[in-house]
Amino acid sequence: MLVQLPPSEPLAEIEALVVTNDEVDDGVLDLLPGVRVVANFGVGYDRVDVDACRSRGVIVTNTPGVLDAATADLAFGLLLAAERRIVAGDRLVRRGGWQAGWAVGELAPELTGSTLGIVGLGRIGTAVARRAAGFELRILYTKRNRLEAAAETRLGAEWCALDELLARADAVTLHVPLTAETYGLIDARRLALLRDGAVVVNTARAELIERQPLVRELVSGRLRAGLDVFWDEPSVPDELIGLENVVLTPHVGSATVTARHAMTELVVENVLAVLAGRAPLTPV
Ligand code: DGY
Repeated sequence: MLVQLPPSEPLAEIEALVVTNDEVDDGVLDLLPGVRVVANFGVGYDRVDVDACRSRGVIVTNTPGVLDAATADLAFGLLLAAERRIVAGDRLVRRGGWQAGWAVGELAPELTGSTLGIVGLGRIGTAVARRAAGFELRILYTKRNRLEAAAETRLGAEWCALDELLARADAVTLHVPLTAETYGLIDARRLALLRDGAVVVNTARAELIERQPLVRELVSGRLRAGLDVFWDEPSVPDELIGLENVVLTPHVGSATVTARHAMTELVVENVLAVLAGRAPLTPV
């Protein structure tokens, strides 16, 4: 059954809760006392209070692995679109601006050969790095545990500290989970480290970046961005709506037929496993 969270009254008969970026906390769990598994339809489970679930013996699962290609493709698409003014060009053509004169009025930097900073080289970050290699990008990365030298060579990626990465990159893409440590990771000071004209791509979680400092940098035109995630979805800060230097998509990182099919299968298998008393495939 479809349940609005938090439910308006206790629903003791529900044993499995499937959520997609919904808040699951003690208040919700109090109203769903029969729940044995919370299956998150997505890899990021930052809105599920895992400790609250654990303390009640509720298993939490997510869908890692099956959405890496889809999310990396979108991150790369946003990077290309923001760098090459693709959406701005599309708008110009549609409003008849091409006939009126020079295409977008501004030459774009060349993506090939530029430097991409990947913050978080997990599964999705690595998939982005593979795509970046095809575009002959220089790749800088941060990761809690640095890769072995052989793996760095294979990927053509250079490890560096976050501040250095921000200062050296022409574009930055975020691929870390949202946790207490990464909340506001990219604050005003760190945004200021970015070069003029640098592109910020975010297909992870908006809260990794401080909202007002990013909005200010974008409104001033100093930075460009490709954003798939927002602080108060489905709302997007008003200031961003009219900006030509920002490409906006509605949280569609995993929204491909292949990824969503695989995510659905994984959610169902996790739920069935827990209800049958077996170990889930992808517990958190
Ligand atoms: C994910 O998988 O975390 C997506 O962002 C959906 O929330």
